[in-house]
Amino acid sequence: MARGSLIVVGTGIRIGNQCTIEAKHHIVTADVVFEVVGDELAQEFLRSLNENVVSLQHLYGGGRARSDTYKAMIEIILSAVREGKRVCAAFYGHPGVYVYPSHESVRRAREEGYEAEMLPAVSADACVFADLGFDPGWLGCQSFEATDFVINARKFDPTAVLILWQIALVGDRSLRVFSSDPRRIRLLAEVLMEHYPPDHPVTVYCAATLPMGHADVQTLPLSRLDEAVITQESTLVVPPYGEARPSADRLALMEARLGA
Ligand SMILES: C[S@@+](CC[C@H](N)C(=O)[O-])C[C@H]1O[C@@H](n2cnc3c(N)ncnc32)[C@H](O)[C@@H]1O
Repeated sequence: MARGSLIVVGTGIRIGNQCTIEAKHHIVTADVVFEVVGDELAQEFLRSLNENVVSLQHLYGGGRARSDTYKAMIEIILSAVREGKRVCAAFYGHPGVYVYPSHESVRRAREEGYEAEMLPAVSADACVFADLGFDPGWLGCQSFEATDFVINARKFDPTAVLILWQIALVGDRSLRVFSSDPRRIRLLAEVLMEHYPPDHPVTVYCAATLPMGHADVQTLPLSRLDEAVITQESTLVVPPYGEARPSADRLALMEARLGA
């Protein structure tokens, strides 16, 4: 029997257009493609490349915690690898950005002695930099999952850009919530106002997923964040507040170590 293998790919955010040539090659040549790519159009795109596409999206919901959904996905992917198939697992965006089953499938497949690899892809933050017109190198950029940011009172620098992911579900510890609620967004705004003034402009960003579509960019004062339309795809982008200042201690250290 042929030795099974696993390749994990991302289809990018904009359906069809952001799938890399190497990801397409693996989708086309796989014995089976398992997919978690979002909507019907994205599934159709995969089916145009390989006739054996199996959706894993039905594993979400039904009162199941997301952690159980992920376990079920990993088991299905690994079972096919163990059967000797060339398996491709396709996720939307970058398969390694805020996607647990992709990393875990690769880790476990390798642990079991199979060849397994993840390919990079276009993620939502890559679209942020292009659509909102800034370079993370200019001012610095930090990014957190929204619930992690709130629960762990993450230390961060308000003088750099802040990107928060999965804001729709902020505060969900049950992993069973699938739609937003203005109370969650008000909580997030309250936490952010510990660091930014109420009139600080923030952007709720949703990159275009359709080839001819446009990004949805809602910019409003932080205190009115709960008035924005928030979906599962919303990412919050908070511009810097104040300016980074050189540290006298660090300048002295550089002088001492580098003489400059
Ligand atoms: C489970 S993560 C998946 C991220 C995806 N793997 C990627 O590479 O962008 C879902 C989160 O990604 C962000 N996201 C997904 N689609 C997006 C889009 N079209 N525009 C902006 N952010 C998006 C949102 O923060 C959303 O809550």
